[in-house]
Amino acid sequence: MPKLFIETLGCAMNSRDSEHMIAQLREKEGYTTTEDFKEADLILINTCSVRERPVHKLFSELGGFNKKKKKSAKIGVCGCTASHLGDEIIKRAPYVNFVLGARNVSKISEVLHKDKAVEIDINYDESEFAFDDFRTSPYKAFINISIGCDKACTFCIVPKTRGDEISIPADLIINEAQKAVDSGAKEVFLLGQNVNNYGRRFSGDTEKVNFTELLNRLSKIEKLERIRFTSPHPFHMDDEFIEEFARNPKICKSMHMPLQSGSSKVLKDMKRGYTKEWFINRVEKLRAECPTVSISTDIIVAFPGESDADFAETIDVMKQVRFDQIFSFKYSPRPETEAEHFPEVDSEIASQRLSYLQTLNNEILDELHLESMDKTYRVYFEELIRDGYVSGRSDNNIVIKVKGSEELLGTFQEVKVNAIGRTILTGEILA
Ligand code: SAH
Ligand code: F3S
Repeated sequence: MPKLFIETLGCAMNSRDSEHMIAQLREKEGYTTTEDFKEADLILINTCSVRERPVHKLFSELGGFNKKKKKSAKIGVCGCTASHLGDEIIKRAPYVNFVLGARNVSKISEVLHKDKAVEIDINYDESEFAFDDFRTSPYKAFINISIGCDKACTFCIVPKTRGDEISIPADLIINEAQKAVDSGAKEVFLLGQNVNNYGRRFSGDTEKVNFTELLNRLSKIEKLERIRFTSPHPFHMDDEFIEEFARNPKICKSMHMPLQSGSSKVLKDMKRGYTKEWFINRVEKLRAECPTVSISTDIIVAFPGESDADFAETIDVMKQVRFDQIFSFKYSPRPETEAEHFPEVDSEIASQRLSYLQTLNNEILDELHLESMDKTYRVYFEELIRDGYVSGRSDNNIVIKVKGSEELLGTFQEVKVNAIGRTILTGEILA
């Protein structure tokens, strides 16, 4: 059997795309996977281009694979950097056998047999493609609910690498969830760039269902215990959506609300479609409807034109909201985006802002975690980790570990927290 080595960078959507490619290569081409690229017959890198990862890093990595791989092994570059660099990849690294864009994953078998194929059409529509089945985790099923993104955030390259947004028909999503549950998964994780915009455009003549209705239908699947999703967009968080979120017991009480900036002026320059006040108002509504909710966010510091006063607004939102988790980034100019040529903030100032924000975040987290001490959470165990521990997540997305082994995997347990750490809490299972 031929062997596949796959390296996946970037977001959860890329992880699911990799699962889709593995599924196609297993079922249609007879591949098995390997962790060692030196014994692989096919090497795939599934790339991310959201922030600048110096392009030379990709090429030096490719060079390394090329030097040490099996002589007959093929190399394919997939994902968002494939979409954006296209045939330039083969020009610069002629030993690369094919380039497959983030919106063309379903063509993996095709490009495998066409030397020097470059498939990167961002208008290609694979929203109804029936992928074969492969999941990395038996406990939790990642399911795409849309492809592409219709927004035009001025910093973001994604609409240029994944194309326009098309929703996947609801019956396909529900069938996929049902299949995952039948094979033992108790949690589904819905994926899209903009999940709460779901249902705005379908490619075929399919029943129009919005996100709230989709959540409602999924929760009718018996034996499905948990529904998570990422990412919703603050602009689309209407009352109906927040109320369904709060009311539906199968929806995990953890919400990712990508703020990006706390300054309404910067938000306008980013074309995010909401203001600081709207964001805070949505957080208040969410917490009023659902007091146990945990809220995570993404923040970009030093977007072009961000003044000290703008940055202070971001800090103000952090202090008001006290996010349970923050993914923070220094602004990175991306090709083909509107902000690409905006004058940049001094890089020294950008680093200082990022470090200030992260220090404040750590202080807030330490305080929040202290509040978790001695509390009891219902944890779904998913992973064996080091030193005889098993880890899982509470409904509101706190990562908790307990001493234990395989038999805990895929089970729900009541766990009392007895030690705290910055990224993971420790607890004991209540008898
Ligand atoms: N729709 C997705 C966004 C994908 S990009 C979502 O809402 O999660 C993931 C995150 O990367 C963004 O939320 C943003 O915070 C960050 N990001 C995107 N482009 C960036 C850039 N040019 N510089 C720095 N961070 C960026
Ligand atoms: Fe990017 Fe904005 Fe879409 S961050 S993925 S253009 S919602």
